[in-house]
This record gives sequence, C-alpha cells and structure tokens, in this order.
Amino acid sequence: MLYISESMEKRILVAYATRNGSTAEIAQAIGRELEKTGTAITVADIMTIRSLEGYTAVVIGGPLYMGRMDGLVIKFVKKYTGELSHMPVAIFAVGLAPKDPKPEAIGNAMMALETAIIPLSPVSTALFAGKLDPAKIGFLMRKFMEMAKIPYGDFRDWETIAAWAKELGDKLR
Ligand SMILES: Cc1cc2nc3c(=O)[nH]c(=O)nc-3n(C[C@H](O)[C@H](O)[C@H](O)COP(=O)(O)O)c2cc1C
Repeated sequence: MLYISESMEKRILVAYATRNGSTAEIAQAIGRELEKTGTAITVADIMTIRSLEGYTAVVIGGPLYMGRMDGLVIKFVKKYTGELSHMPVAIFAVGLAPKDPKPEAIGNAMMALETAIIPLSPVSTALFAGKLDPAKIGFLMRKFMEMAKIPYGDFRDWETIAAWAKELGDKLR
C-alpha cells in the first residue's frame, strides 16, 4: 500500500480550449508556474486529449463566448466526469467581463464558469481578463462590442495569473 502511494508521482494536466489563442497563452503561463514546484506538467489543447490516465490533478481553462464557457470545456467535463471526480480539479475562464461596464457582467461570467464545471467541486476557480483584437471579429460583432462599450485590447494580467497558479500548487496535491 505504502509502495503504491509512493510510486504515484504527481502529474498535472492543464487542459485548455481557445478560439483566438489568448486562453492558450494563459494556460501555458499557468503550466510554467506550476512547473516551478517540481511537478510534471502537461499543457494541452482540450481537442488533443484522448485520456486522463496517469494524471493526478487537472486544471481546465476556456474562453467565454456569448455568455457561455466554450462548448469544448463543457464536453470535456461531461466526458471525463468519472475520472475528474476522483482528483483535484481547478477551472479558469477567460473573458472581457472584467472590462465590461455593466455591473452584472462579472456575476454572469462566474455563473457561466460554475455551470461549466457541474457536477464537480473545483478546488479553485478564477476569471481572468482576456484579449480582443478587432481584426479577428466581424463587422457586426465589432459594432455590438462598441455599442456595449466593451474595449479592445490585451487585458491579460500576468501577475494575477501567476499568483493564482502559485496558490494552486498546494491545492492540487
Ligand atoms: C463574439 C465574441 C463573444 C464574446 N463573448 C464574451 C462573453 O460572453 N463574456 C466575456 O467575458 N467575454 C466574451 N468575449 C471575449 C472573449 O472571451 C475574449 O476575447 C477571450 O480572451 C477569448 O479567448 P481566446 O483568445 O482563447 O479565444 C467575447 C468575444 C467575442 C469575439
């Protein structure tokens, strides 16, 4: 028994969904921070993951689009609920809600994040400000963003992201 627990080396998977790359870069930053604890880390696009075998904890991240977490995150949680319910799981969402002038935006974003992780109980959750490049969206969406007064730019706060990842180290044990 003792032999088994000693041989169970910690291995953390950071699984991300992304459409325009900003969540992927956040996932990589989280992976780099977690690696500093000496743990084996794999950062992978959620679409490439075929199994959770060998992982002892999982961090899931995805962007928010139209009030919901990216559908690939929701599918991933559904597909692997059994395995994920036996290990520590953390989840982060990336969006522009923190820059949205509407006061309810952050509450709505957190609700989308919490809905995506049901029925699991994550050890930690986070909402990070993302990035929006007007060149990457269509004319109508640009008009919508302007009307909603949601700004363009790269709002990713690397210090906040690193601080969250640093705290995660202990929680994912
Ligand atoms: C069409 C569209 C819809 C969006 N909807 C939301 C939203 O509902 N909530 C939010 O917080 N951010 C929203 N965003 C902002 C994205 O979540 C943000 O740009 C994020 O950084 C994108 O991540 P990605 O680069 O990994 O795809 C939206 C962006 C676009 C272009």
